[in-house]
Amino acid sequence: MERFDAHHALIGREPEIHRLTTAIGRLAGGAGEALLLTGEPGVGKTSLLEQAISLASGAGARVFRAAGSQFEADISYATLHQLLHPCLGELLRLSPLLAGALNVALGRGDGAPPEPLLVAGAVLALLRTTAEERPLLLVIDDLPWLDRASALVLGMVARRLNGLPVGMVAACRTGEPSSFDVGGLAVVYVGVPPEYGGNGPPEADLTESMLSGLGH
Ligand SMILES: Nc1ncnc2c1ncn2[C@@H]1O[C@H](COP(=O)(O)OP(=O)(O)OP(=O)(O)O)[C@@H](O)[C@H]1O
Ligand SMILES: [Mg+2]
Repeated sequence: MERFDAHHALIGREPEIHRLTTAIGRLAGGAGEALLLTGEPGVGKTSLLEQAISLASGAGARVFRAAGSQFEADISYATLHQLLHPCLGELLRLSPLLAGALNVALGRGDGAPPEPLLVAGAVLALLRTTAEERPLLLVIDDLPWLDRASALVLGMVARRLNGLPVGMVAACRTGEPSSFDVGGLAVVYVGVPPEYGGNGPPEADLTESMLSGLGH
């Protein structure tokens, strides 16, 4: 099967892409929000994240992305490090308290492990500084594989984006346990597109039904 990428229109995803377009339009206007894409394995969540990246880049936003990895799931703040490494130079612009806390969390400094609330405050300050010139979209895939410390802090950050030119789009298989608290986030259920026989709640083994629907 031909792989879909940002240059191909995704089949049957008009409602989801409309929702992403609306969120990115608001982000471009300075009002970030956090969206959670949830759906069954293989239904097309990562493909929609790629679409979000393409839309955000087209709207002039910067994009930082990270994905949970089973190999880094036991390393504290591994995903946070992956997400933020393009802007760590901006740490110099934060207060010593916030910069110090984030440096310790990310393994760039010595000291007692900082409280999650302090780390979340430091991340928000860093994101605000980074987004001064251009809006910023954070894209986080495979939430259940996030290390626990990153999941906790990024969940806190997701609920505090109001009024910032920083948005977040994250993806997770429906029902998979995660330390990322999705409470309070806007959820987009990614089901099987009607073009592939889907209607209503998503079904299992969707990649297979998509492939057979396309005649492959
Ligand atoms: N709308 C679509 N039409 C046709 N094929 C699609 C569509 N969306 C995704 N695909 C294809 O289906 C396959 C699975 O998509 P994708 O990786 O985005 O799913 P996923 O939900 O992220 O899967 P996982 O749960 O394993 O992370 C990919 O080959 C992708 O190119
Ligand atoms: Mg995926």
